[in-house]
Amino acid sequence: MRIGFFDSGIGGITVLHQALRLLPNEDYIFYADSLHVPYGDKPKEEVRQYIFEAADFIASQGVKALVIACNTATSIAVQDLRQKYDFPILGIEPAVKPAVQQCEGTRKKVLVLATSLTLKEEKYHNLVRSVDRHDIVESLPLNGLVRFAEQFDFSEESVLPYLRDQFSHLDLRQYGTVVLGCTHFPYFIPVFKKLFNDDAEIISGSFGTAKNLKHILESRNQLSDGTGEISFYHSGRKVEDQATLTQYHRLFRMLDEM
Ligand code: SIN
Repeated sequence: MRIGFFDSGIGGITVLHQALRLLPNEDYIFYADSLHVPYGDKPKEEVRQYIFEAADFIASQGVKALVIACNTATSIAVQDLRQKYDFPILGIEPAVKPAVQQCEGTRKKVLVLATSLTLKEEKYHNLVRSVDRHDIVESLPLNGLVRFAEQFDFSEESVLPYLRDQFSHLDLRQYGTVVLGCTHFPYFIPVFKKLFNDDAEIISGSFGTAKNLKHILESRNQLSDGTGEISFYHSGRKVEDQATLTQYHRLFRMLDEM
């Protein structure tokens, strides 16, 4: 049986890329809700409806696990999805805990970057409350970055001015760790490194989610002997045109090179 990966758009590829490294012999369904991306600045109830439609479709294909490779969708629906389906459902959370641990005793702060919906949710506030004993975690919504990614515009010339503008009220030297709390953001790691002068560590939760997936499949004795084949879907429609598939393969290559 295959493993489902779900995201509003291309961000989930950054998590699938990690999963393929750890689980190269699994076969995958990658579902992007391309009709409704971006999620991060839409009303919560509307987004919940899209997520359940997507999960129903993926479940109908028969999967042994589903990875919600989208921070926004995880924040607002992962608990309810777990109630509905009988296969394991994994989410992705901003890696706030390791970020706080890295900064402890250094006088540096943590900056969490995510969509405004993720940062508004109780799940995020509970997470920060549970680990941020010295009040060092700050956050900033960067919804615009999702749009750059969905336009396949990763160029420094476009993105750096946008980021400089968003960060203009902050002294970037005060941050020791930057948490990428949206799966669309790892495509921009080279730009973030330039912006932070390599002074801050940039981390995401993708590897942790992939490790967790491997652990769950192992413990359920459900590892497969496949070939790492990926079937791509856009909002319930199988992607078959070569141009789109080539774009996806370009994303994997980009991530390989980082
Ligand atoms: C978005 O669709 O706005 C981004 C989703 C995410 O948080 O990964």
